[in-house]
Amino acid sequence: MNKFCMQISALSSNEAFVRSTVSAFCAHLNPTLEQLEEIKTAVSEAFTNCVVHAYSRGEEQTIGVEVSLEKDRASIIIEDHGKGIEDVEKAMQPFFTTRPEQERSGMGFTLMNTFMDSVTVTSQVGNGTKVVMTKIIKEGD
Ligand SMILES: Nc1ncnc2c1ncn2[C@@H]1O[C@H](COP(=O)(O)OP(=O)(O)O)[C@@H](O)[C@H]1O
Ligand SMILES: [Mg+2]
Repeated sequence: MNKFCMQISALSSNEAFVRSTVSAFCAHLNPTLEQLEEIKTAVSEAFTNCVVHAYSRGEEQTIGVEVSLEKDRASIIIEDHGKGIEDVEKAMQPFFTTRPEQERSGMGFTLMNTFMDSVTVTSQVGNGTKVVMTKIIKEGD
């Protein structure tokens, strides 16, 4: 097991840094470029969700990012301590968004599900949201 974790300010300007850092760390498993792009997209959606939905403007808060590598998989956790999600099942449906006025597509969770092998969301209203995603990366893929 090879592990990495950080706490970073919930700023959209940190999204590119988080996406690249997670992908650089996952490169230890020798994934294909396509697999790395898929991981980047999923991380970007999960991190952006924390920035956009979890915290109200001006609130200084952090997002936890954790990556664990095992021999055939990368597990990525993106966690906030924001407002939480009332109905996770509903939130994960394609095109569901609580922010249509901000031109959000409601496809974030759908993209995560498409590009990762498993996505588990746990959330408590008032306490925050934790997204655990796993990508299988077999040697010689
Ligand atoms: N970290 C989070 N904290 C609070 N609510 C969230 C979080 N992530 C997602 N949500 C809720 O789930 C909905 C669906 O998310 P998503 O599929 O990424 O679509 P979008 O971000 O385009 O609205 C969001 O509109 C929001 O209501
Ligand atoms: Mg989203």
